[in-house]
Amino acid sequence: MSFLKEIERRRTFGIISHPDAGKTTLTEKLLLFGGAIQEAGAVKSNKIKKGATSDFMEIERQRGISVATSVLAFEYNGIKINILDTPGHKDFAEDTFRTLTAVDSVIVVIDVAKGVEEQTEKLVEVCRMRNIPMIVFINKLDREGKDAFDLLDEVEQKLGLTVTPMSFPIGMGYDFKGIYNLWEKNVNLFSGDSRKNIEETIEISDLASKKLTKLIGEAAADLLREEIELVEGIYPKFDKTDYLNGNLQPVFFGSALNNFGVRELLDCFVDIAPKPRPKQSEERLVKPDEEKFSGFVFKIHANMDPNHRNRLAFVKIVSGTFERNKPYLHVRHNKKVKFSSPNAFFAEKKEIVDISYPGDIVGLQDTGTFKIGDTLTEGEILNYKGVPSFSPEHFRYINNADPMKSKQLYKGIDQLMDEGVAQLFTLDLNGRKVIGTVGALQYEVIQYRLEHEYGAKCTYENLNVHKACWVEPADKNNEEFKEFLRVKQRFLAKDKQNQLVFLADSMFSLQMTQQKYPSIKFHLTSEYS
Ligand code: G4P
Repeated sequence: MSFLKEIERRRTFGIISHPDAGKTTLTEKLLLFGGAIQEAGAVKSNKIKKGATSDFMEIERQRGISVATSVLAFEYNGIKINILDTPGHKDFAEDTFRTLTAVDSVIVVIDVAKGVEEQTEKLVEVCRMRNIPMIVFINKLDREGKDAFDLLDEVEQKLGLTVTPMSFPIGMGYDFKGIYNLWEKNVNLFSGDSRKNIEETIEISDLASKKLTKLIGEAAADLLREEIELVEGIYPKFDKTDYLNGNLQPVFFGSALNNFGVRELLDCFVDIAPKPRPKQSEERLVKPDEEKFSGFVFKIHANMDPNHRNRLAFVKIVSGTFERNKPYLHVRHNKKVKFSSPNAFFAEKKEIVDISYPGDIVGLQDTGTFKIGDTLTEGEILNYKGVPSFSPEHFRYINNADPMKSKQLYKGIDQLMDEGVAQLFTLDLNGRKVIGTVGALQYEVIQYRLEHEYGAKCTYENLNVHKACWVEPADKNNEEFKEFLRVKQRFLAKDKQNQLVFLADSMFSLQMTQQKYPSIKFHLTSEYS
Protein backbone atom coordinates (compact mmCIF):
# COMPACT_ATOMS: atom_id res chain seq x y z
CA MET A 1 0.00 0.00 0.00
CA SER A 2 1.33 3.43 -0.85
CA PHE A 3 2.49 5.90 1.78
CA LEU A 4 -0.43 8.26 1.06
CA LYS A 5 -3.00 5.45 1.28
CA GLU A 6 -1.55 4.41 4.63
CA ILE A 7 -2.07 7.95 5.94
CA GLU A 8 -5.59 8.15 4.45
CA ARG A 9 -6.71 5.05 6.28
CA ARG A 10 -5.59 6.04 9.77
CA ARG A 11 -7.85 7.41 12.49
CA THR A 12 -6.17 8.26 15.79
CA PHE A 13 -8.49 9.36 18.54
CA GLY A 14 -9.17 9.40 22.25
CA ILE A 15 -12.30 8.65 24.25
CA ILE A 16 -12.89 11.12 27.05
CA SER A 17 -15.41 11.07 29.83
CA HIS A 18 -16.02 11.58 33.50
CA PRO A 19 -15.17 8.34 35.36
CA ASP A 20 -17.94 5.74 35.12
CA ALA A 21 -19.70 7.21 32.11
CA GLY A 22 -18.72 4.12 30.12
CA LYS A 23 -15.42 4.85 28.40
CA THR A 24 -13.92 1.42 29.08
CA THR A 25 -17.09 -0.36 28.05
CA LEU A 26 -17.33 1.59 24.82
CA THR A 27 -13.65 1.00 24.02
CA GLU A 28 -14.17 -2.69 24.49
CA LYS A 29 -17.23 -2.76 22.27
CA LEU A 30 -15.36 -0.94 19.53
CA LEU A 31 -12.59 -3.53 19.75
CA LEU A 32 -15.17 -6.30 19.55
CA PHE A 33 -16.57 -4.80 16.36
CA GLY A 34 -13.10 -4.59 14.93
CA GLY A 35 -12.62 -8.28 15.72
CA ALA A 36 -9.57 -7.31 17.77
CA ILE A 37 -10.87 -9.12 20.83
CA GLN A 38 -13.21 -12.07 21.04
CA GLU A 39 -15.08 -11.48 24.24
CA ALA A 40 -16.16 -8.68 26.50
CA GLY A 41 -13.98 -8.25 29.55
CA ALA A 42 -10.78 -8.91 27.61
CA VAL A 43 -9.53 -5.37 27.94
CA LYS A 44 -8.54 -4.67 31.49
CA SER A 45 -9.75 -1.40 32.76
CA ASN A 46 -6.88 0.83 33.71
CA LYS A 47 -9.09 3.12 35.64
CA ILE A 48 -8.37 3.57 39.25
CA LYS A 49 -11.23 2.01 41.07
CA LYS A 50 -13.20 3.99 43.54
CA GLY A 51 -11.84 3.69 47.05
CA ALA A 52 -8.37 2.86 45.80
CA THR A 53 -7.08 6.33 46.51
CA SER A 54 -5.17 5.31 49.59
CA ASP A 55 -3.78 2.16 48.10
CA PHE A 56 -0.99 3.22 45.82
CA MET A 57 0.21 -0.33 45.18
CA GLU A 58 -3.11 -0.89 43.52
CA ILE A 59 -2.60 2.30 41.58
CA GLU A 60 0.82 1.16 40.45
CA ARG A 61 -0.57 -2.18 39.47
CA GLN A 62 -3.19 -0.43 37.42
CA ARG A 63 -0.62 1.87 35.91
CA GLY A 64 1.21 -1.28 34.87
CA ILE A 65 -1.88 -2.54 33.13
CA SER A 66 -2.34 0.76 31.44
CA VAL A 67 0.87 0.32 29.42
CA ALA A 68 -0.92 -2.39 27.53
CA THR A 69 -4.01 -0.31 27.04
CA SER A 70 -2.26 2.97 26.35
CA VAL A 71 -2.81 2.51 22.65
CA LEU A 72 -5.39 0.11 21.33
CA ALA A 73 -5.18 -0.42 17.60
CA PHE A 74 -7.47 -2.40 15.35
CA GLU A 75 -8.73 -2.54 11.79
CA TYR A 76 -12.31 -1.96 10.77
CA ASN A 77 -13.40 -2.03 7.12
CA GLY A 78 -9.86 -1.36 5.96
CA ILE A 79 -9.42 1.57 8.35
CA LYS A 80 -6.60 1.43 10.89
CA ILE A 81 -7.96 2.77 14.17
CA ASN A 82 -5.70 3.87 17.02
CA ILE A 83 -7.48 4.57 20.30
CA LEU A 84 -5.31 6.46 22.77
CA ASP A 85 -6.29 5.75 26.30
CA THR A 86 -6.94 8.67 28.62
CA PRO A 87 -7.13 8.12 32.37
CA GLY A 88 -10.46 9.31 33.68
CA HIS A 89 -9.24 9.77 37.25
CA LYS A 90 -8.90 13.46 37.95
CA ASP A 91 -5.55 13.08 39.68
CA PHE A 92 -4.14 12.01 36.34
CA ALA A 93 -5.88 14.73 34.36
CA GLU A 94 -2.57 16.06 33.15
CA ASP A 95 -1.78 12.72 31.48
CA THR A 96 -5.04 13.07 29.66
CA PHE A 97 -4.34 16.65 28.59
CA ARG A 98 -1.03 15.54 27.14
CA THR A 99 -2.57 12.59 25.35
CA LEU A 100 -4.99 15.02 23.74
CA THR A 101 -2.00 16.61 21.96
CA ALA A 102 -1.56 13.32 20.09
CA VAL A 103 -5.13 12.65 18.96
CA ASP A 104 -6.74 13.81 15.73
CA SER A 105 -10.27 13.64 17.12
CA VAL A 106 -12.18 12.54 20.21
CA ILE A 107 -15.37 10.81 21.26
CA VAL A 108 -16.96 12.27 24.38
CA VAL A 109 -19.00 9.81 26.46
CA ILE A 110 -21.78 11.18 28.64
CA ASP A 111 -23.98 9.26 31.09
CA VAL A 112 -27.63 9.87 30.19
CA ALA A 113 -28.65 10.07 33.86
CA LYS A 114 -25.77 12.18 35.13
CA GLY A 115 -25.48 14.49 32.16
CA VAL A 116 -22.42 16.69 31.76
CA GLU A 117 -20.02 16.12 34.66
CA GLU A 118 -17.02 18.06 35.91
CA GLN A 119 -14.23 16.07 34.28
CA THR A 120 -16.03 16.10 30.94
CA GLU A 121 -16.26 19.88 31.10
CA LYS A 122 -12.53 20.29 31.70
CA LEU A 123 -11.49 17.86 28.99
CA VAL A 124 -13.89 19.21 26.41
CA GLU A 125 -12.64 22.70 27.10
CA VAL A 126 -9.12 21.60 26.19
CA CYS A 127 -10.41 19.99 22.99
CA ARG A 128 -12.39 23.08 22.11
CA MET A 129 -9.38 25.33 22.58
CA ARG A 130 -7.48 23.15 20.12
CA ASN A 131 -10.39 22.80 17.67
CA ILE A 132 -10.27 19.03 17.94
CA PRO A 133 -13.21 17.43 16.13
CA MET A 134 -15.56 15.81 18.64
CA ILE A 135 -18.38 13.27 18.47
CA VAL A 136 -20.63 12.95 21.53
CA PHE A 137 -21.96 9.55 22.61
CA ILE A 138 -24.77 9.64 25.17
CA ASN A 139 -24.56 6.33 26.97
CA LYS A 140 -26.71 4.09 29.20
CA LEU A 141 -29.98 4.68 27.37
CA ASP A 142 -31.19 1.39 28.82
CA ARG A 143 -31.51 3.29 32.10
CA GLU A 144 -33.86 5.99 33.16
CA GLY A 145 -32.19 9.29 32.38
CA LYS A 146 -32.67 12.90 31.38
CA ASP A 147 -34.91 13.95 28.55
CA ALA A 148 -33.00 13.91 25.26
CA PHE A 149 -33.69 17.55 24.43
CA ASP A 150 -32.73 18.68 27.93
CA LEU A 151 -29.50 16.76 27.61
CA LEU A 152 -28.70 18.27 24.23
CA ASP A 153 -29.29 21.71 25.79
CA GLU A 154 -27.01 20.84 28.66
CA VAL A 155 -24.28 19.69 26.27
CA GLU A 156 -24.56 22.93 24.33
CA GLN A 157 -24.56 25.15 27.39
CA LYS A 158 -22.11 23.46 29.73
CA LEU A 159 -19.69 22.29 27.10
CA GLY A 160 -20.09 25.20 24.72
CA LEU A 161 -20.72 22.89 21.76
CA THR A 162 -23.02 23.17 18.77
CA VAL A 163 -24.69 19.81 18.45
CA THR A 164 -26.37 17.95 15.63
CA PRO A 165 -28.09 14.70 16.65
CA MET A 166 -27.24 11.83 14.33
CA SER A 167 -29.52 9.45 16.17
CA PHE A 168 -32.43 9.82 18.53
CA PRO A 169 -33.77 7.53 21.25
CA ILE A 170 -37.19 5.95 20.99
CA GLY A 171 -38.28 5.95 24.63
CA MET A 172 -35.87 5.58 27.51
CA GLY A 173 -35.15 3.36 30.48
CA TYR A 174 -37.92 0.85 30.91
CA ASP A 175 -39.68 2.11 27.77
CA PHE A 176 -36.55 2.22 25.68
CA LYS A 177 -37.49 0.67 22.39
CA GLY A 178 -34.59 1.56 20.19
CA ILE A 179 -32.97 4.28 18.20
CA TYR A 180 -33.84 6.18 15.09
CA ASN A 181 -30.71 6.73 13.08
CA LEU A 182 -30.91 10.05 11.26
CA TRP A 183 -27.58 9.44 9.58
CA GLU A 184 -28.53 6.12 7.96
CA LYS A 185 -32.30 6.67 8.07
CA ASN A 186 -33.22 3.46 9.82
CA VAL A 187 -34.63 2.21 13.08
CA ASN A 188 -32.75 -0.12 15.42
CA LEU A 189 -35.01 -1.99 17.75
CA PHE A 190 -34.13 -3.62 21.02
CA SER A 191 -35.17 -7.20 21.52
CA GLY A 192 -38.24 -7.49 23.74
CA ASP A 193 -37.23 -8.67 27.17
CA SER A 194 -33.56 -9.19 27.55
CA ARG A 195 -32.57 -5.77 26.21
CA LYS A 196 -29.28 -7.34 25.43
CA ASN A 197 -29.32 -7.39 21.68
CA ILE A 198 -30.45 -5.51 18.70
CA GLU A 199 -33.40 -7.41 17.38
CA GLU A 200 -33.35 -5.89 13.97
CA THR A 201 -32.36 -2.90 11.92
CA ILE A 202 -35.14 -1.72 9.71
CA GLU A 203 -34.87 0.81 6.93
CA ILE A 204 -37.46 3.53 7.37
CA SER A 205 -36.92 6.13 4.71
CA ASP A 206 -40.20 7.84 5.50
CA LEU A 207 -41.11 8.40 9.12
CA ALA A 208 -44.76 8.87 8.17
CA SER A 209 -44.98 5.28 6.98
CA LYS A 210 -47.37 2.82 8.62
CA LYS A 211 -44.47 0.44 9.02
CA LEU A 212 -43.11 2.55 11.86
CA THR A 213 -46.47 2.54 13.66
CA LYS A 214 -46.60 -1.22 13.34
CA LEU A 215 -43.10 -1.60 14.70
CA ILE A 216 -43.21 0.57 17.78
CA GLY A 217 -46.88 1.30 18.37
CA GLU A 218 -48.92 4.38 17.59
CA ALA A 219 -48.06 6.50 20.60
CA ALA A 220 -44.31 5.96 20.30
CA ALA A 221 -44.39 6.45 16.54
CA ASP A 222 -46.27 9.74 16.84
CA LEU A 223 -43.92 10.96 19.51
CA LEU A 224 -40.88 10.04 17.44
CA ARG A 225 -42.27 11.84 14.39
CA GLU A 226 -42.84 14.94 16.48
CA GLU A 227 -39.40 14.76 18.03
CA ILE A 228 -37.57 14.26 14.76
CA GLU A 229 -39.45 17.20 13.29
CA LEU A 230 -38.25 19.25 16.24
CA VAL A 231 -34.69 17.96 15.87
CA GLU A 232 -34.65 18.87 12.20
CA GLY A 233 -36.12 22.27 12.99
CA ILE A 234 -33.84 23.21 15.86
CA TYR A 235 -30.43 21.78 15.11
CA PRO A 236 -28.11 22.55 12.23
CA LYS A 237 -27.67 19.89 9.56
CA PHE A 238 -24.50 17.87 9.76
CA ASP A 239 -21.69 19.51 7.85
CA LYS A 240 -18.40 17.69 7.62
CA THR A 241 -16.25 20.79 7.31
CA ASP A 242 -17.84 22.35 10.38
CA TYR A 243 -17.26 19.12 12.30
CA LEU A 244 -13.63 18.90 11.17
CA ASN A 245 -13.00 22.51 12.16
CA GLY A 246 -14.42 21.85 15.63
CA ASN A 247 -17.50 24.00 15.05
CA LEU A 248 -20.17 21.29 15.02
CA GLN A 249 -20.48 18.13 17.11
CA PRO A 250 -22.54 15.13 16.02
CA VAL A 251 -24.36 13.34 18.85
CA PHE A 252 -25.24 9.65 19.09
CA PHE A 253 -27.42 7.92 21.66
CA GLY A 254 -26.93 4.33 22.75
CA SER A 255 -25.91 1.83 25.36
CA ALA A 256 -22.35 0.61 25.25
CA LEU A 257 -23.04 -2.21 27.68
CA ASN A 258 -25.80 -3.57 25.48
CA ASN A 259 -23.96 -2.89 22.27
CA PHE A 260 -26.63 -0.54 21.21
CA GLY A 261 -25.83 2.32 18.89
CA VAL A 262 -22.15 1.39 18.93
CA ARG A 263 -21.93 0.08 15.36
CA GLU A 264 -23.72 3.22 14.13
CA LEU A 265 -21.23 5.34 16.00
CA LEU A 266 -18.28 3.40 14.60
CA ASP A 267 -19.57 3.45 11.02
CA CYS A 268 -20.12 7.16 11.15
CA PHE A 269 -16.79 7.70 12.88
CA VAL A 270 -14.72 5.93 10.21
CA ASP A 271 -16.63 7.87 7.60
CA ILE A 272 -16.24 11.38 8.98
CA ALA A 273 -13.36 11.39 11.50
CA PRO A 274 -10.19 13.09 10.33
CA LYS A 275 -7.15 11.27 9.03
CA PRO A 276 -3.86 12.43 10.61
CA ARG A 277 -3.82 16.19 10.71
CA PRO A 278 -0.96 18.64 10.16
CA LYS A 279 0.75 19.77 13.35
CA GLN A 280 2.16 23.12 14.28
CA SER A 281 5.77 23.20 15.42
CA GLU A 282 7.48 26.32 16.71
CA GLU A 283 9.22 26.56 13.35
CA ARG A 284 6.47 25.69 10.86
CA LEU A 285 3.34 23.67 10.11
CA VAL A 286 4.27 20.06 9.40
CA LYS A 287 2.07 17.95 7.11
CA PRO A 288 1.65 14.19 7.53
CA ASP A 289 2.44 13.47 3.88
CA GLU A 290 5.88 15.04 4.04
CA GLU A 291 8.51 12.49 3.15
CA LYS A 292 10.76 13.09 6.15
CA PHE A 293 9.90 11.61 9.51
CA SER A 294 9.05 13.73 12.53
CA GLY A 295 7.24 12.93 15.77
CA PHE A 296 7.00 13.90 19.41
CA VAL A 297 6.90 12.24 22.82
CA PHE A 298 3.53 12.74 24.54
CA LYS A 299 3.76 10.16 27.27
CA ILE A 300 6.45 8.30 29.18
CA HIS A 301 5.68 5.17 31.05
CA ALA A 302 8.03 3.77 33.66
CA ASN A 303 8.36 0.09 34.20
CA MET A 304 7.45 -0.65 37.78
CA ASP A 305 9.53 -3.80 37.89
CA PRO A 306 12.76 -2.85 39.71
CA ASN A 307 14.70 -5.43 37.68
CA HIS A 308 13.80 -3.84 34.38
CA ARG A 309 13.84 -0.20 35.06
CA ASN A 310 13.52 0.96 31.50
CA ARG A 311 10.84 3.32 30.40
CA LEU A 312 8.65 3.40 27.36
CA ALA A 313 8.35 6.70 25.53
CA PHE A 314 5.24 7.03 23.39
CA VAL A 315 5.89 8.89 20.15
CA LYS A 316 3.15 10.14 17.85
CA ILE A 317 4.28 10.12 14.25
CA VAL A 318 3.43 13.43 12.63
CA SER A 319 5.07 13.09 9.21
CA GLY A 320 6.97 10.55 7.10
CA THR A 321 7.64 7.00 8.19
CA PHE A 322 9.37 5.83 11.31
CA GLU A 323 11.74 2.96 10.59
CA ARG A 324 13.47 0.52 12.84
CA ASN A 325 17.25 0.97 13.17
CA LYS A 326 17.28 4.24 11.27
CA PRO A 327 19.11 7.09 13.02
CA TYR A 328 16.93 10.04 14.02
CA LEU A 329 17.75 13.38 15.54
CA HIS A 330 16.81 13.90 19.19
CA VAL A 331 16.29 17.63 18.76
CA ARG A 332 16.66 18.76 22.38
CA HIS A 333 19.93 16.84 22.81
CA ASN A 334 21.06 17.50 19.24
CA LYS A 335 22.10 13.85 19.08
CA LYS A 336 21.41 11.00 16.71
CA VAL A 337 19.54 8.07 18.22
CA LYS A 338 18.56 4.70 16.80
CA PHE A 339 15.95 2.22 17.95
CA SER A 340 16.36 -1.48 17.40
CA SER A 341 13.06 -2.55 18.89
CA PRO A 342 10.31 0.04 18.52
CA ASN A 343 6.92 -1.24 19.62
CA ALA A 344 3.68 -0.95 17.77
CA PHE A 345 0.46 -1.50 19.67
CA PHE A 346 -2.40 -3.81 18.84
CA ALA A 347 -5.56 -4.65 20.69
CA GLU A 348 -3.90 -5.42 24.00
CA LYS A 349 -0.40 -6.35 23.07
CA LYS A 350 2.69 -4.71 21.71
CA GLU A 351 5.04 -6.01 19.05
CA ILE A 352 8.27 -4.91 17.44
CA VAL A 353 7.53 -3.06 14.25
CA ASP A 354 9.71 -2.21 11.21
CA ILE A 355 7.77 0.71 9.86
CA SER A 356 5.04 3.02 11.19
CA TYR A 357 3.05 5.77 9.52
CA PRO A 358 1.68 9.20 10.45
CA GLY A 359 -1.11 8.81 13.01
CA ASP A 360 0.56 5.76 14.52
CA ILE A 361 2.12 5.62 17.94
CA VAL A 362 5.44 3.86 18.51
CA GLY A 363 6.73 2.91 21.92
CA LEU A 364 10.48 3.44 22.31
CA GLN A 365 12.61 1.88 25.02
CA ASP A 366 14.20 4.69 26.95
CA THR A 367 16.77 4.80 29.70
CA GLY A 368 16.14 8.40 30.64
CA THR A 369 16.98 10.40 27.52
CA PHE A 370 13.46 11.49 26.76
CA LYS A 371 11.13 13.90 28.39
CA ILE A 372 7.61 14.80 27.51
CA GLY A 373 7.41 17.10 24.53
CA ASP A 374 10.71 15.96 22.95
CA THR A 375 10.82 15.93 19.16
CA LEU A 376 12.50 13.39 16.85
CA THR A 377 13.24 14.21 13.21
CA GLU A 378 15.44 13.17 10.30
CA GLY A 379 17.70 16.15 10.91
CA GLU A 380 15.51 19.25 10.77
CA ILE A 381 15.25 21.35 13.92
CA LEU A 382 11.59 21.16 14.85
CA ASN A 383 9.95 21.65 18.23
CA TYR A 384 6.34 20.59 18.46
CA LYS A 385 4.11 22.86 20.44
CA GLY A 386 1.24 21.96 22.61
CA VAL A 387 2.49 19.78 25.43
CA PRO A 388 2.05 22.45 28.09
CA SER A 389 2.18 22.19 31.85
CA PHE A 390 -0.89 23.38 33.69
CA SER A 391 -0.86 24.97 37.10
CA PRO A 392 -0.88 22.20 39.69
CA GLU A 393 -3.60 22.11 42.32
CA HIS A 394 -1.47 20.89 45.24
CA PHE A 395 1.92 22.10 46.43
CA ARG A 396 4.30 20.67 49.00
CA TYR A 397 7.93 21.16 49.93
CA ILE A 398 9.95 18.02 49.34
CA ASN A 399 12.68 17.27 51.91
CA ASN A 400 15.49 14.77 51.77
CA ALA A 401 14.98 12.23 54.55
CA ASP A 402 18.28 10.43 54.02
CA PRO A 403 21.22 12.81 53.60
CA MET A 404 23.44 9.97 52.34
CA LYS A 405 21.19 9.54 49.35
CA SER A 406 20.76 13.07 48.09
CA LYS A 407 22.24 12.26 44.66
CA GLN A 408 19.71 9.47 44.20
CA LEU A 409 16.91 11.71 45.40
CA TYR A 410 17.68 14.45 42.90
CA LYS A 411 18.12 11.99 40.05
CA GLY A 412 14.82 10.38 40.96
CA ILE A 413 12.97 13.68 41.16
CA ASP A 414 14.48 14.75 37.87
CA GLN A 415 13.39 11.63 36.04
CA LEU A 416 9.92 11.52 37.55
CA MET A 417 9.36 15.12 36.47
CA ASP A 418 10.51 14.27 32.93
CA GLU A 419 7.87 11.56 32.90
CA GLY A 420 5.33 14.22 33.78
CA VAL A 421 4.31 12.67 37.12
CA ALA A 422 4.38 16.12 38.76
CA GLN A 423 6.09 19.50 38.44
CA LEU A 424 9.09 20.80 40.28
CA PHE A 425 9.58 24.42 41.31
CA THR A 426 12.68 25.84 42.93
CA LEU A 427 12.11 28.86 45.18
CA ASP A 428 14.15 31.92 44.26
CA LEU A 429 14.59 32.94 47.85
CA ASN A 430 16.21 29.86 49.33
CA GLY A 431 16.47 27.20 46.64
CA ARG A 432 13.95 24.93 48.35
CA LYS A 433 12.20 22.45 46.12
CA VAL A 434 8.44 22.38 45.77
CA ILE A 435 6.48 19.59 44.11
CA GLY A 436 3.23 20.57 42.45
CA THR A 437 0.66 17.96 41.46
CA VAL A 438 -2.82 17.75 40.03
CA GLY A 439 -4.02 15.33 42.70
CA ALA A 440 -2.95 14.40 46.19
CA LEU A 441 -2.41 10.84 45.03
CA GLN A 442 0.80 11.64 43.20
CA TYR A 443 2.65 12.45 46.43
CA GLU A 444 2.30 8.86 47.53
CA VAL A 445 3.29 7.62 44.10
CA ILE A 446 6.41 9.82 44.10
CA GLN A 447 7.44 8.82 47.60
CA TYR A 448 6.97 5.16 46.84
CA ARG A 449 8.80 5.30 43.54
CA LEU A 450 11.71 7.34 44.92
CA GLU A 451 12.22 4.70 47.55
CA HIS A 452 11.74 1.63 45.39
CA GLU A 453 13.34 2.75 42.16
CA TYR A 454 16.03 5.14 43.35
CA GLY A 455 16.67 4.08 46.94
CA ALA A 456 15.95 7.60 48.20
CA LYS A 457 13.68 8.76 50.98
CA CYS A 458 11.68 11.95 51.13
CA THR A 459 9.23 13.72 53.36
CA TYR A 460 6.79 16.48 52.52
CA GLU A 461 5.89 19.70 54.21
CA ASN A 462 2.77 21.68 53.55
CA LEU A 463 2.97 24.89 51.65
CA ASN A 464 0.12 27.28 51.16
CA VAL A 465 -0.08 27.90 47.44
CA HIS A 466 -3.27 28.37 45.46
CA LYS A 467 -1.97 28.46 41.89
CA ALA A 468 1.31 28.58 40.00
CA CYS A 469 1.29 31.31 37.36
CA TRP A 470 3.88 31.60 34.64
CA VAL A 471 5.02 35.20 34.53
CA GLU A 472 5.28 37.14 31.29
CA PRO A 473 6.63 40.66 31.75
CA ALA A 474 5.93 43.30 29.13
CA ASP A 475 9.52 44.42 29.49
CA LYS A 476 12.10 42.76 31.70
CA ASN A 477 13.81 46.07 32.35
CA ASN A 478 10.89 48.22 33.31
CA GLU A 479 10.51 49.51 36.85
CA GLU A 480 7.20 47.77 37.40
CA PHE A 481 8.70 44.34 36.74
CA LYS A 482 11.74 45.09 38.88
CA GLU A 483 9.49 46.11 41.73
CA PHE A 484 7.40 42.98 41.28
CA LEU A 485 10.56 40.83 41.52
CA ARG A 486 11.60 42.65 44.69
CA VAL A 487 8.27 42.77 46.48
CA LYS A 488 7.13 39.29 45.59
CA GLN A 489 10.47 37.54 45.95
CA ARG A 490 9.09 35.21 48.60
CA PHE A 491 6.54 33.86 46.11
CA LEU A 492 8.79 33.46 43.10
CA ALA A 493 10.22 30.24 41.78
CA LYS A 494 11.64 28.67 38.63
CA ASP A 495 10.10 25.68 36.90
CA LYS A 496 12.22 22.92 35.37
CA GLN A 497 12.69 24.91 32.17
CA ASN A 498 13.92 27.82 34.27
CA GLN A 499 10.80 29.85 33.51
CA LEU A 500 9.72 32.34 36.15
CA VAL A 501 6.66 31.31 38.15
CA PHE A 502 4.61 33.23 40.69
CA LEU A 503 3.21 31.01 43.45
CA ALA A 504 0.07 32.84 44.50
CA ASP A 505 -1.13 31.88 47.97
CA SER A 506 -4.76 32.76 47.31
CA MET A 507 -7.11 33.83 44.57
CA PHE A 508 -7.28 37.19 46.28
CA SER A 509 -3.54 37.76 46.31
CA LEU A 510 -3.36 36.75 42.64
CA GLN A 511 -6.02 39.33 41.77
CA MET A 512 -4.30 42.00 43.85
CA THR A 513 -0.98 41.27 42.21
CA GLN A 514 -2.53 41.45 38.77
CA GLN A 515 -4.06 44.82 39.61
CA LYS A 516 -0.88 46.18 41.06
CA TYR A 517 1.29 45.12 38.12
CA PRO A 518 -0.96 45.52 35.10
CA SER A 519 1.83 45.23 32.54
CA ILE A 520 2.72 41.73 33.69
CA LYS A 521 0.76 38.77 32.42
CA PHE A 522 0.08 35.76 34.66
CA HIS A 523 -0.62 32.51 32.84
CA LEU A 524 -2.04 29.28 34.22
CA THR A 525 -0.20 27.18 31.64
CA SER A 526 3.49 27.13 30.80
CA GLU A 527 2.87 27.60 27.09
CA TYR A 528 1.26 30.93 26.49
CA SER A 529 2.79 32.38 23.37
P1 G4P B 1 -15.39 4.45 32.63
O1 G4P B 1 -14.36 3.67 31.88
O2 G4P B 1 -15.89 5.65 31.88
O3 G4P B 1 -15.00 4.81 34.02
O4 G4P B 1 -16.70 3.54 32.78
P2 G4P B 1 -16.91 1.98 32.58
O5 G4P B 1 -16.91 1.61 31.14
O6 G4P B 1 -16.04 1.21 33.48
O7 G4P B 1 -18.42 1.87 33.07
C1 G4P B 1 -18.81 2.25 34.37
C2 G4P B 1 -20.00 1.42 34.80
O8 G4P B 1 -21.10 1.69 33.94
C3 G4P B 1 -19.76 -0.07 34.72
O9 G4P B 1 -20.50 -0.70 35.74
C4 G4P B 1 -20.38 -0.43 33.38
O10 G4P B 1 -20.77 -1.79 33.31
C5 G4P B 1 -21.57 0.49 33.35
N1 G4P B 1 -22.05 0.78 31.99
C6 G4P B 1 -21.34 1.12 30.89
N2 G4P B 1 -22.14 1.28 29.83
C7 G4P B 1 -23.40 1.06 30.26
C8 G4P B 1 -24.68 1.07 29.62
O11 G4P B 1 -24.82 1.32 28.43
N3 G4P B 1 -25.76 0.79 30.41
C9 G4P B 1 -25.64 0.49 31.73
N4 G4P B 1 -26.75 0.23 32.39
N5 G4P B 1 -24.45 0.47 32.36
C10 G4P B 1 -23.35 0.73 31.63
P3 G4P B 1 -19.84 -1.08 37.13
O12 G4P B 1 -20.87 -1.81 37.87
O13 G4P B 1 -19.24 0.13 37.79
O14 G4P B 1 -18.63 -1.93 36.74
P4 G4P B 1 -18.59 -3.43 36.28
O15 G4P B 1 -18.45 -4.16 37.56
O16 G4P B 1 -19.86 -3.71 35.55
O17 G4P B 1 -17.38 -3.48 35.40
